[in-house]
Amino acid sequence: MKIDPWSSAQFQDYAKLRDEFGISEFNAEKLPSPPKLFRRGVVFGQRGFELIEDAILNKKKFAVLSGLMPSGNMHIGHKMVIDQINYFAELGGVVFVAIADIEAYATRNISIEKAREIAIEQYVVNYIALGLKQCQIYFQTKRKEVKDLAWFLAKKINWSEMKAIYGFDNSTSMAHVHSPLIQVGDILHVQLAKFCSPCPTIVPVGVDQDPHIRLTRGVVNSFRLYNATLTKDNKIGVFVKGDENVSELLNLAEKKLKEIGFNELEKIPSYKALYVLKAKTEDIQKIDEQLIEIEFQFNKGMQTTFYQPSSTYHRFMTGLAGDKMSSSKPESSIFLTDLPFEVKEKIKKCKTGGAISLEEQRKYGGKPEECVVYEIFLYHLIEKDEELNEIFVRCKRGELLCGECKKYCSQLMEKWLKEFKEKREAAKEKVKEYLRGD
Ligand code: TRP
Ligand code: SF4
Repeated sequence: MKIDPWSSAQFQDYAKLRDEFGISEFNAEKLPSPPKLFRRGVVFGQRGFELIEDAILNKKKFAVLSGLMPSGNMHIGHKMVIDQINYFAELGGVVFVAIADIEAYATRNISIEKAREIAIEQYVVNYIALGLKQCQIYFQTKRKEVKDLAWFLAKKINWSEMKAIYGFDNSTSMAHVHSPLIQVGDILHVQLAKFCSPCPTIVPVGVDQDPHIRLTRGVVNSFRLYNATLTKDNKIGVFVKGDENVSELLNLAEKKLKEIGFNELEKIPSYKALYVLKAKTEDIQKIDEQLIEIEFQFNKGMQTTFYQPSSTYHRFMTGLAGDKMSSSKPESSIFLTDLPFEVKEKIKKCKTGGAISLEEQRKYGGKPEECVVYEIFLYHLIEKDEELNEIFVRCKRGELLCGECKKYCSQLMEKWLKEFKEKREAAKEKVKEYLRGD
């Protein structure tokens, strides 16, 4: 199995996907007032989320970054990323949003000018109308730091790795080959001193973006000067990775760790190691924070030490006919700019989990877990868990029938779109404020 970020494959079995790629389960229990996408398992996986949870619970600084390619119209599936960004922003995250104009050019054959036009007229207006507050929205083409990092960090990524992750071959254009590196630049540039210093960064995305996250986490690791791990005998080993400045790095680590209260240390220079005795597994994170700080001082010229980005993965929305919701298939999607009558027609035709006849449905009930209408309620339209649950139960019992259910769905959707249209109008005036400098 391969995840291709540029194909339109639909994933069915998310638990299997998670296991196969070593994605961890997402659990929002400790977070304050988790939003519905978190409560309902729409966000189903994560990498390195402990760092963000720790930052949130202990009120430490963290950055939030995501991005979209400006191609086609935005549909309600795209809204999920913005919903998550808004939640993390409320908890104190510093927000950045990339407009992937280079990627659109490299992989979708959209000119930079066209991408800019689509982004400004559609995406940025939608972002603001969806409630994105104080943040930096920027174009990949306009951020020198993003492009510099893409170039610089590529030093430790080789061709066989790119082929293994993305399935590139001899016919892949170099612009396409390079575009994931630009995304690495997007994700990490927020940790430059000029932006947010090194700090944990959460990247909420659809699971199709996982290859880029893996690439970024890998390259961060390659540039680290230290490696802190739990050893077999329950110590934490801090190892210096290269052969340069070994004793100085060991001494600096020793000093720093003593300062924060780890007094029982054992230094073995021949192993390039400093062992922390009587430490707990959770201490690794605290220790690594100190090591990153030391490395940061050691970086000469371009900054090369970063926190590995954390990610959350959401499921995709099913298209209205049961396939994938996609901008390139208007009949499959509900666009943020659809008119009420269009939506009514779309919902009327969409696939449900209803039985073949009314009689059968009354007798045996429907299948909300296979129903697109139910999914739209679950992802977007119904806030209260009790109300959603009632629909589920009444559908199962055959008390609720699809006609009535669809009618309710289009009422809610039309109301939402009508309000959204007004918000879009108001947002148009603010676009310039959000694009300062870009
Ligand atoms: N590749 C993403 C897409 O296909 C867009 C994107 C660019 C992005 N840079 C990013 C997403 C950084 C998350 C983080 O839509
Ligand atoms: Fe879906 Fe509603 Fe029909 Fe149940 S009653 S299958 S939830 S449309």
